[in-house]
Order: sequence, then structure tokens, then C-alpha cells
Amino acid sequence: MAAAYIKSGGIVAFPTETVYGLGAGVFDEPAIAKIFEAKRRPADNPLIAHISGHEQVGLLAADVPAGASVLMEAFFPGPLTIVLQRSPAVPRLATAGLDTIGIRMPRYPLAQSFLLACGTPVVAPSANLSGRPSPTTWQAVLEDLDGRIDCILQSSGSEIGLESTVVDCTGDAPILLRPGAITLEQLRQIVPGTVSHEAADEEAPRSPGMKHAHYTPRASVWLVAPGEAITPARGSAYIGTGPPAFAVGVVCICSSPDEYARRLFEFFRECDRGGVEYIYCETVAETGIGAAVMDRLRRASTR
Ligand code: TXA
Ligand code: MG
Repeated sequence: MAAAYIKSGGIVAFPTETVYGLGAGVFDEPAIAKIFEAKRRPADNPLIAHISGHEQVGLLAADVPAGASVLMEAFFPGPLTIVLQRSPAVPRLATAGLDTIGIRMPRYPLAQSFLLACGTPVVAPSANLSGRPSPTTWQAVLEDLDGRIDCILQSSGSEIGLESTVVDCTGDAPILLRPGAITLEQLRQIVPGTVSHEAADEEAPRSPGMKHAHYTPRASVWLVAPGEAITPARGSAYIGTGPPAFAVGVVCICSSPDEYARRLFEFFRECDRGGVEYIYCETVAETGIGAAVMDRLRRASTR
């Protein structure tokens, strides 16, 4: 049913293990244009193509270097996006004019059956209005995009809660562009030469999306160290893995960094719904999913 909308030129929000995506057929330029319009997405920010199987890589990429191929073998399906040289068959609109394309094979079963039914790769950014936190529930998709899209494929909340790890595999060594649930350490276990974006020291930004405002609630976000005592502003909220060292109205204590990742974007949205003005976010160690949590917190934060 949801796939029928894709086949007839519509745009569909669908769940994945990371966040909800807003999809269109990769070869359907008018539908891709609708995604940019619905999200109010800047035209220079490329989309990720979602595939149902390894055999679809050839439809999208002009070249698959050895590093990319072993990473895909190790982590597809899963929360990893691999950037490759784009096949000329892919419309430039999908990749915002770039010669490269991000490719991802989600592991979430409903995403897989949706993609299989579509019979074509599906380009999909996160299903939020541009600049807002990515949606981790179908209700959050509705909140941002009601009336602007054709269909929402409903499911329970996202399992990971943060967007996929993005790795550029077009050069000599893979470059980590966006941290996610697949960590730099895990990538290095497969390709030891993988470097982080900061270490790569190439002409920045390699990932156009990184220069845009991202993941931001309307409230101001402040980072606090574990146990740091501050004087909170009125109308404030707190999220972390330990209790706050100060009195605050709304508190979300997560049992682990994984739970922190899973709940963060929905907490931002809850705070906005409740009119919270300041959100204090506890910093976490940058190991495992912690690196991705800290990346999103820094992007959202005012200090
Ligand atoms: O987990 C995810 O990746 C989710 C789900 C729906 O799959 N999608 C997602 O898409 O987060 P989006 O559009 O919100 O973020 C894609 C990021 C952006 O920062 C974009 O600039 C970057 O990936 N990106 C996409 N294609 C690229 C390319 N060819 N080269 C470099 N960066 C690219
Ligand atoms: Mg996004």
C-alpha cells in the first residue's frame, strides 16, 4: 500500500532502525522535488538512497572501491551510509548536484519489506522539517509534515534514535563524515585506515548537510558535565544518564548511552511542546554510541 504511493509518484514517510525517512523513487525527479518542498530542505543538501539488497548498488554507483565493498559486506543491512561515485543514471536533483551518492540498506524489517515492494531504490532524508530534530516516532513525522506528504507507514519508535553513520568511500581511505551507531572503532576493524572527518583535513564540508542547522529544538540547549552544579534558568529541563546536580522542572534520566540516543530527539520535541526554554544535556563519554550522542548535542547546543 505505502509502496503504491512511491510507484505513482508520491512521497512516503517510513520507519527505519535509525529515524523515520521521507522517501521517493530515486529515478522520479518530480517526486524528489516534492521531498525538498515538503521538508523545506535546502537544495544543496543531498539525499541518501535506500536499497533492499546488494544487487541495487549497481543501479546507483559508478564504481565500488574495495574498501566500500568490505564495509557494505560487514554492515549492510544496518545503520551505515556509504558515499560512492554516482552513476550517471541517478538524477542530479537526488544528490544535490554532487557526483557522489550516499547508499544505505536499512535492517528494520518494515523498512526492508517496504523497499522490496517499491522495487526501486528510494531516496530519503529524515522525515522532519529541515532544521528540526529527526523524527523517531510516526507522531513526530505527523507533527512536522501533516498535509505535506502522501502517506506515513506507522510503526513503533526507532530502535537507535540517531541517524546513520555516514562514510565517504570515494577516496583512498574511508572518511567518517557523520558518527552514528556504527562507530569509528567498528569501521576500523574492517578497514583499519578509516579516518574521521576532522582528521581527514580535506576541503570542508564534505557532507553538505553538516553546514546546515541540525537537530535543534526551539529551546536553547546547554551542555553540562556529569555532577556539574549550575543555576538553571526558569522553565528548564534536563536529560542525562545520571541525576542532575541542580533542581529542574522536567527530568529525563536514561539508563545507558543507548537509551540516551534513543530518547534524545523525542525529548527535544517534548520540551518544545511543553514550552521549555532551556534544555540542559549531560555530556557522555565519546565511546560507542556516545560519540554520536555528543556530535548531535554539540550541533544542537548554544555553548
Ligand atoms: O539514518 C539515516 O541516515 C536517515 C534514515 C532515514 O535513513 N536519513 C538521514 O538523512 O538522516 P538526512 O538527509 O537527514 O541526512 C543525510 C546526511 C546529510 O548530512 C547529507 O549531507 C549527507 O548525509 N549526505 C547525503 N548524501 C551525501 C553525499 N553524496 N556526500 C556527502 N554527504 C552526503
Ligand atoms: Mg536530516
